[in-house]
This record gives sequence, C-alpha cells and structure tokens, in this order.
Amino acid sequence: MDIADRLKLDVPVVQAGMGGGIAGAPLAAAVSAAGGLGTLGLLPPGQLKSAIATVRDRAPGRAVAVNLLMPFIGRRHIEICLESDIDIAVMAFEIDRALIQRLSGEGIFVMVMVGTEDQAAEALAYGADGLIAQGREAGGHLVGTVAQADFLPKALALAGSRPVFAAGGIATAADTRAVLDAGAAGAVAGTRFLLTHESGAHPAYRQRIIDADSTIETTVFGLAWPARHRVLPNATTRRWCRPDGSARRLPAAINKFSAPLSRIPDRGDGALLHLQHPALPFLTPITLTADMPAHWAERAALYAGDTALRLDRVTSAAQAVADLAP
Ligand SMILES: Cc1cc2nc3c(=O)[nH]c(=O)nc-3n(C[C@H](O)[C@H](O)[C@H](O)COP(=O)(O)O)c2cc1C
Repeated sequence: MDIADRLKLDVPVVQAGMGGGIAGAPLAAAVSAAGGLGTLGLLPPGQLKSAIATVRDRAPGRAVAVNLLMPFIGRRHIEICLESDIDIAVMAFEIDRALIQRLSGEGIFVMVMVGTEDQAAEALAYGADGLIAQGREAGGHLVGTVAQADFLPKALALAGSRPVFAAGGIATAADTRAVLDAGAAGAVAGTRFLLTHESGAHPAYRQRIIDADSTIETTVFGLAWPARHRVLPNATTRRWCRPDGSARRLPAAINKFSAPLSRIPDRGDGALLHLQHPALPFLTPITLTADMPAHWAERAALYAGDTALRLDRVTSAAQAVADLAP
C-alpha cells in the first residue's frame, strides 16, 4: 500500500486534530487543499456533520480525517463519522478495540496516537492501520513519555509494514525530513498549524506562542480530564503549578475527583471559562479561541509544544504546509 495514495497526500504533512475550536473546517480544509492532511478536532456532534461536509466541499478529492478525542466521544460522533463516510479516524487518549474494528470494518483508515511501546503494541494488536508516535515535547495533551526522536524508532520496530507518523517537535521542513529519514511515513504538527490564520486560536494566544521562551508539562488544567498536557506559562500556572510544572495539591485533588464529568456533553462554546479564574483551583481544559476576550489568556490553558520556542510567525495554512514540506 502506498500511504500517500491511500491518504490522498501530495506532501507527507499532517495537521493534528486539535479540539476546543482550534482545528475546525477552515483549518482542516485549507491544509488538505494545500496537499497535506487536515484533521478535524473534536466538535459537538451537531457541528461535526457540517464540518465534514465543508472539508469535502473545499478540498475535493482529498481524504477527510476526524480526530476521536476518546474521553469526549459519544455514540453520535461515531454515527456521524460512519454516515458521512469519512476516510480516516485518529483515535487518541484511549484505545478502544471494538471501535477500531468497527471503523476499520467500514473501510475507515484508523490511526491511533501512542506514546509508549505498550500503547503501540496494544493499538497494533487491536487492528490499527497506522500509528502516530507522539513525543513528550508535543503541545496539548500528552501520551508521549519520551522525546519523539527516541520513541519513533521503537514505534517503527513494532509497526512493521504499517505506517507510523511522528508528532512533536515539527516546526520546519528539516524536522519533517528528519522523521522521514528515520522511517516515518510523515510528520504531524499541531502548534505550527495553530499559528495560521485559519486556526480558531485567539490572536493573543498565537502571539504568546511567538513570544514564548518556555513550556510546562502539567496536569493543572485537568477538571474533568486529569491527563498530562503541555502549555505556556500564564497567571494560572504561576498560581497553581509547582516549579517542576506539577499541579499543586488542591487543583490536583479536585481534578482527580472530577474525571467522570468528561462524560457530560460539551456545548463547545467555552461557557465554563467565564467562571474560571486564576485565583480559583477549578481549571478546565478549555483553551482560548478567537471569540473570547483576550485577557482570558491568563485563565485558559494555552496549549503549545516546545516548537513554540522556535516558531516566530503566523501564516496561511497553505504556507504552513509549504514550510513543512520536505
Ligand atoms: C492546541 C492543541 C490542541 C490539541 N488537541 C488535541 C486533540 O483534541 N486531540 C488529539 O489527539 N491531540 C491534540 N493535540 C496534540 C496533537 O495531536 C499533537 O500530538 C501535537 O500537537 C504535536 O506536537 P506539536 O504541537 O509540538 O506539533 C493538541 C495539540 C495542541 C497544540
């Protein structure tokens, strides 16, 4: 199988599915129209259906990919993916054997994002068609536990003939070439695509990435989803993170007991962020989108990978694909 043909790619560059309104149809369609693979991030089911239709319309002849952010995926999301006949599903943050088999059985190419050898072996045993090997330097939520360059060879060794894409640390064409030389089928970038006109990120958030000189691995923005994530520092992390990035005791305890809340359907409008404040230890994973006030940058999770230290401009999505093309 030629993976570029199977995924309808001109260049081996994938835009990561980013939830919370960052990677909607405008971004995914622009990336795919430019010859890469755009991926829709988590959306409420009502919006997912029309977003898939928009990508199809704006990027004709390209594959349609949807990120399945598993803690927040409901039955309706899956029905819409099947009804809409998507081409690719990217499963992340839980590996669901029955779902892999169901989607695969319907002809959908199923990729699973993994960060350890155990996760990779599990995804492969359950029938994943490909892997995304995430390194710990990645932005957003982390399955990655070691640097991408260290994990990629291990994932490749397990995957055999199945394709492995590398995520984390991808900011330039040289980064893409490095992962291809190491054996990857392509490069997956999130933070670079957040710095595009088509992403849903607030301009103040983009500027903070451009100005960044550090990132933090933490669990502090863990209300309803107490998983590790990489963010930029802000007033909230300064108040509630220890010097090593870990969450202080109070938010850590609240986050731990809030995990079942992830099953409450997401309204997708960031309404809870109104109530969030850097002085209070109730810290949701909601990020800063263009429709919110700029000063919420001090309360929201500003997800970014270590590439933030190297990235210095906002471009069109097509330019980002061109910049990353090997
Ligand atoms: C703002 C943001 C949101 C993200 N949201 C998701 C998500 O919803 N689902 C997912 O599988 N990965 C998500 N990720 C992680 C990406 O899949 C990818 O692993 C990561 O962006 C790669 O690292 P990079 O940002 O340094 O390029 C997100 C990343 C960022 C930066």
